[in-house]
Amino acid sequence: MRTIIEPFRIKMTEPIKLLTRNERVEALKRAMYNVFLLDAEDCCIDLLTDSGTGAMSTRQWAAMMLGDESYAGSRSWKRFEASVRKITGIDNVLPTHQGRAAEGILAECVVQPGDIIPNNSHFDTTQANIEYRGAVALNLPCPEAYDTGTPSPFKGNMDVAALGRCIKEHGREKIPFCMITVTNNTGGGQPVSMANIRRVKQVLDEHGIPLVIDACRFAENAYFIREREGGYEGRSLLEIAQEMFSLADGATMSCKKDGLANIGGFLVCRDDEWAERFRNLLRPDSVLLFRGKVSTREQQKAKLIADEIAQLDGVFDRLPAAMEIFLNGEVNPKLLNQIKLLIPQPGEENEVQKIDINRAPAWLLEALPGIGEVKAQAIIDYRQQNGLFNNINELLKVRGIGQTTLDNIKDLITVAD
Ligand SMILES: Cc1ncc(COP(=O)(O)O)c(C=O)c1O
Repeated sequence: MRTIIEPFRIKMTEPIKLLTRNERVEALKRAMYNVFLLDAEDCCIDLLTDSGTGAMSTRQWAAMMLGDESYAGSRSWKRFEASVRKITGIDNVLPTHQGRAAEGILAECVVQPGDIIPNNSHFDTTQANIEYRGAVALNLPCPEAYDTGTPSPFKGNMDVAALGRCIKEHGREKIPFCMITVTNNTGGGQPVSMANIRRVKQVLDEHGIPLVIDACRFAENAYFIREREGGYEGRSLLEIAQEMFSLADGATMSCKKDGLANIGGFLVCRDDEWAERFRNLLRPDSVLLFRGKVSTREQQKAKLIADEIAQLDGVFDRLPAAMEIFLNGEVNPKLLNQIKLLIPQPGEENEVQKIDINRAPAWLLEALPGIGEVKAQAIIDYRQQNGLFNNINELLKVRGIGQTTLDNIKDLITVAD
């Protein structure tokens, strides 16, 4: 196994509760096997989402203390607005507490019952906001998206031909705007090419339909465009992001994704009339434009990250590290531009990471088939009384472990060198 060295130091720890297998089983039963109903402290490895859960950089923590909580005209808000304008090139910026709030405002102001909103794939909150208005959230992913066995660089693309058919069938009047989600979360987090966004925009322009980007992972998408699309090699990620937004009439954003903040979002649009409608909706909801529901400390934090994006700093140091973990590629933060992703091809299997019976704690041993609380403890007791195992067959000397159990787990375990 290749060792991954993360390009950052971890400064803070937060203890997590380690449950035994039986406790985990009980917790799952109590939650009626619905992981959304589990208490977070009952999950020692929580893979539900990476949204808003990330550790923060030293600069983010420091920036929070610079947050200006003035009742009006806050300095933090102005910095945040300037950053968003710099990246998107769009002037009307509205703060929201999350991405879904931006979608909610957009839907409430622009969507009518019976409308159709096409998207490469709607995220579930976007779909919910559209359906709540009595409209149809239509997914039009490209055909390759369904072929999980064949590699293709931009499986997040929209099916442009299907979009054309949709407009022909329903007419411009029923389609107040079209969305494109970068990267395509619901479609497996796959990226969208610049060529595809451009093509979608051309088709929409022919009918005067605005394009709204769901921009949660715009930085990651820019990264994939630079890696995989001809003509973008050597371009800065900020330039690529700016080019993507230049094709949009508006965007919704969750700063909990590529903003690396714990909360926050925004809505941007070019059309002043749309912006006025959005602002009028914000006011009754007591979200004053210059303050927002989110503490300015949070805005400050997200703004800082936006700056870091602009400088290809911070976020992009982390991005390849995250990519490394998921895609098993090379990482070297100093040679960021030369990073190549190694994507396992169909049929190529990664070696299973084995459990070291000389070091594994009880909860890890319990992950092995046929090993419950009692046998796991027996392995640990044996280790403490007799010293480390010399080989895996020695497990047969442990109380309660016979040949059948060993045969079931022999390919999953190892002993330390
Ligand atoms: C693609 C996409 N759009 C919208 C959202 C909604 O953002 P938020 O969680 O900030 O409401 C998310 C994540 O939750 C997302 O991944």
